[in-house]
Amino acid sequence: MTKKGSLLVVGTGLKAGGHLTFEAQSAIKNADKVFYAEGNPLIVYQINSLNPNAQTIADLYGKGKPRNVTYSQMVDRIMTAVREGLRVCAVFYGHPGVFVYASHKSISVARAEGYEAQMLPGISAEDCLFADLGIDPAKYGCQSYEATDFLIYRRVFDRRSTLVLWQVGIIGQVDYQGRRFEPKGLELLVEVLLESYPAEHTGIIYEASQNALFLPRMEPVAIGKLAEADLTTISTLVIPPAPKWSVPDMERVKRLGLENYIKNRAELAQQ
Ligand SMILES: C[S@@+](CC[C@H](N)C(=O)[O-])C[C@H]1O[C@@H](n2cnc3c(N)ncnc32)[C@H](O)[C@@H]1O
Repeated sequence: MTKKGSLLVVGTGLKAGGHLTFEAQSAIKNADKVFYAEGNPLIVYQINSLNPNAQTIADLYGKGKPRNVTYSQMVDRIMTAVREGLRVCAVFYGHPGVFVYASHKSISVARAEGYEAQMLPGISAEDCLFADLGIDPAKYGCQSYEATDFLIYRRVFDRRSTLVLWQVGIIGQVDYQGRRFEPKGLELLVEVLLESYPAEHTGIIYEASQNALFLPRMEPVAIGKLAEADLTTISTLVIPPAPKWSVPDMERVKRLGLENYIKNRAELAQQ
């Protein structure tokens, strides 16, 4: 038998006034208690309007405080309310399951203790960049990494596919430092990228709009000049491939009988 008390984890998307899904709104509205880790004041206003029992968990961040301590405290705060028998809704920005430790951890702790727990999808930064930058992952494929993880684990990637690097503005920064840009690590990133890309190959610094009044930031930057770029805590780096790097394996094309498909695809690419 499942216990009294439950957890629903939802995301707000990135843009105020448009990205909060109907099911997320309903989850917030119908909860006994809402916790949110959200900094956009318009979205905070919307959450509080939907449910007066909403409380921030962003107060757990502290300058210089290790992020993992903050995240554990978020899980504790969420789980304390679930254990009290409340229907709890935890709200995170973007997609709640994309680069959010506390959301996944809360769900696994709740389930391990016998509570019902579920996550609803939201609109992530990657969803926004597919739309704003006109990138379809069907075309060359798409690889997504957290920038510090990408560097320290020597992630093996393929420059023939789009490369998305999250948290490029806070490489190596495990302590929370607010919105201050942290240049540490960018030089190492450039060094590593130059093993695969020519210095003049262009990436895009991307920041999705957080408010209908503003346009997204979509700033081209040569890989070799990346260390001089103005990155923030919300910057995502996108490196599209050069189309000429994609060359089909004709042996495999023949085995699959896809000669015409390859010809049509090449013709489409010329248009
Ligand atoms: C902790 S993650 C949160 C991601 C979020 N849950 C999502 O679904 O997009 C923070 C990173 O997400 C990316 N990010 C957050 N806001 C963004 C925005 N407005 N535009 C582009 N990328 C963003 C950046 O790479 C940032 O360093």
